[in-house]
Amino acid sequence: MSGTDIAYFIDNASDRANLFSVWQTLWQQGCGTGTEGDRCRIQAFAAAVEYGRFGKLPQADALANTLPALTRNWNRLWPNGLGIPNPDLPNRDPLAALPDPAHDPLLLRPLLEVWRKPDQTAFIVGLAGMLDRSALQRLGKRDVTTALERLLAKGGFAAKPFSQAVLYALLREQGLAPRQRPLKLPPARVEAVSRDADPLKLWRTHCASCHDTTLPHPPNFLHGSLQHASTRLQQCAPRIFVRLSMAEVAEPQRRVAPMPPAAMLASRGISPGHWAKSAELAALKRDIATRLPAGATTRLLTQPYNQLPQCVEAVR
Ligand code: HEC
Repeated sequence: MSGTDIAYFIDNASDRANLFSVWQTLWQQGCGTGTEGDRCRIQAFAAAVEYGRFGKLPQADALANTLPALTRNWNRLWPNGLGIPNPDLPNRDPLAALPDPAHDPLLLRPLLEVWRKPDQTAFIVGLAGMLDRSALQRLGKRDVTTALERLLAKGGFAAKPFSQAVLYALLREQGLAPRQRPLKLPPARVEAVSRDADPLKLWRTHCASCHDTTLPHPPNFLHGSLQHASTRLQQCAPRIFVRLSMAEVAEPQRRVAPMPPAAMLASRGISPGHWAKSAELAALKRDIATRLPAGATTRLLTQPYNQLPQCVEAVR
């Protein structure tokens, strides 16, 4: 295996994983709710288990009628099609200096494609790809129809996130114990800090996911004690002010990328236009202005960005 093989495998894996959210969307919303939704899910799951074990899909004519609820809901939920996200970063090193501004990894990437109608085959094969292979093997050639019906009666096909739990429940219905206990991760360890009266709460809400890490890039100005973070915020204030202000500058006139990045706002359902006029942005800008010399703010926007004081951690 050479270096490019590894990159190729990673690319394949990210392409496959990219569709997990699509299969989950079809499973949870596409099939719908109530009895009809549960029927749609049991049919999709039965077909996936079949495909996973024998590599066989339902006959083409049966397939057309397999998931009627999905077709009906699709037209209501996604009349303009379902957008498929693009997992590929145009730049192979997202943290390298940017030779081409269009490669900025923080830009919203256009959709990979738009699916106009449900692809039942792709859905079934996609679900099958998420199933635990060793559990499928344990099922062997058994007929699972009645066990699936029992599972359905117990609410096993409700509109909940799809997971191996459905397959393991099917195994138990067949009197087979899953060989391995499902992997349980230890509870997450969180730092014991009281954030209630945190004077930096506003910054943490909007910036901490990327700027409170143990890494130096992007600058981790929110990391460490309150006092330390306040000092860093003060040191970074000129650059922070400029980055926040980019929200109100039209795209072609921007000299640097706005913060928070558009992709981050989009993931929280906030449009750039809404953010530019939001009370949160105004509050962030008011706060950062108090950390700058009086009257500095107007000057900052015309100064060359790379001449502004650096955000890097002072060498100790
Ligand atoms: C989704 C991750 C993410 C979030 C959230 C985020 N940033 Fe950033 N930020 C980055 C990345 C990545 C960079 C480095 C790339 C660049 O400079 O554009 C960066 C760069 C910066 C820089 C430039 C540092 C320099 O040396 O020039 C500043 C200032 C900044 N961010 C401020 C903020 C502020 C303030 C917030 C919250 C209001 C925020 N960021 C939210 C990812 C993020």
